[in-house]
Amino acid sequence: MTDLLVRNVRVESATTPCDLRVEGGRFAEIGPGLEARRGERVIDHGGRLALPPFIESHVHLDSALTAGQPRYNESGTLFEGIQVWSERKRTLTVEDVKERVRRAVRQQAGFGIQYVRSHVDVTDPELTALRALLELREELRDDVTLQLVAFPQEGIESFPDGRALMRRAAEMGVDAIGAIPHFEFTREYSVSSLDFAVELALEFGLLIDVHCDEIDDEASRGLETLAARAYEAGIGERVTASHTTAMHSYNNAYFIRLLRLLSMSGINFVSNPLVNTHLQGRMDTYPKRRGVTRVKELTEAGLNVSFGQDDIVDPWNPLGTGNLRDVVLNGLYVTQMMGRSEIEQSYRFITHNAARTLHLDDYGIAVGNSANFIVLDAPDWTEALAFDAPVVASYRAGRELVRAKPVRREILF
Ligand code: FE2
Repeated sequence: MTDLLVRNVRVESATTPCDLRVEGGRFAEIGPGLEARRGERVIDHGGRLALPPFIESHVHLDSALTAGQPRYNESGTLFEGIQVWSERKRTLTVEDVKERVRRAVRQQAGFGIQYVRSHVDVTDPELTALRALLELREELRDDVTLQLVAFPQEGIESFPDGRALMRRAAEMGVDAIGAIPHFEFTREYSVSSLDFAVELALEFGLLIDVHCDEIDDEASRGLETLAARAYEAGIGERVTASHTTAMHSYNNAYFIRLLRLLSMSGINFVSNPLVNTHLQGRMDTYPKRRGVTRVKELTEAGLNVSFGQDDIVDPWNPLGTGNLRDVVLNGLYVTQMMGRSEIEQSYRFITHNAARTLHLDDYGIAVGNSANFIVLDAPDWTEALAFDAPVVASYRAGRELVRAKPVRREILF
């Protein structure tokens, strides 16, 4: 492995540039004006921003790039999306899934992503998508870290053999257990599905990531059950509540009471602002709810929140590219987190906060860690966000994964 000296990058929010020395695939030295050594490859990034790689903390790779197959979701609702996918799911083959996921992951890599938590639908008696994703997790591991969640798209209690399929997924080697309490037939099923998911995760020593209350129904309260179980079992940091869009509609008296439990539990949250502004509020006339969870309030209460893309060109998002910059930009607008420091810190939604949710160790630009990092064509994050700066380089263990030449436009007037 060739050693590398990366010159002239601004790391995270640093105002002055520094150099990064990589030896044996790890950061060996970080500081200004490092001397090049014999045999070392030297790359100068001209004062551009360096960040730890972006992390996609919530996406459904199994359905990626299937929009229009067999038909488009014309109503734009979550539930028509589930119906369309249920039809497409019958025609899945391992090769079909692998071919699409490889394309999607390469597309994500171009946007600086090196870590992906993908939910995989296991409400399929053949578990075709899961078999494909488990193979890819190994095949792609040098280029991307894939974390797989057993996701019961059509329910645990409300789908034939739902519990048995979840258990089989755990035995096959998923990283995390999911649930979908708002989709279960009854409130009782919702609660028992969460009890089952937590027990299964504890039995297999797995993380938990629940599609929790992704609905505009203010009475959808799977979150309190999940947080209570996490608190009682003392596993909050291993548990994630994804979406939680019903929280947008909770009355404040209930939310404030709930916030105490959430803080005690210490669970993580993933918000998918781009997709949920598209899917939620579809049964409203006006005013029309945005349906994004209370990111600002959760963050201010010290809870960990990350942002995800959710869907890439599939029945739930025909325009999802995989670019997390779009997600952060939309998230900041829709949650009204537009204060200067909120904007400056917003890269954390797709880096450090997401790393905490995924339970990654060995993450971040620091001596001793694997030399995984990206370089953007801007001097700082605010400018990168505002001007949609492309990722010009992505390194993994010091190896170049992505190299891009920024486009220079000439304005001819
Ligand atoms: Fe999702």
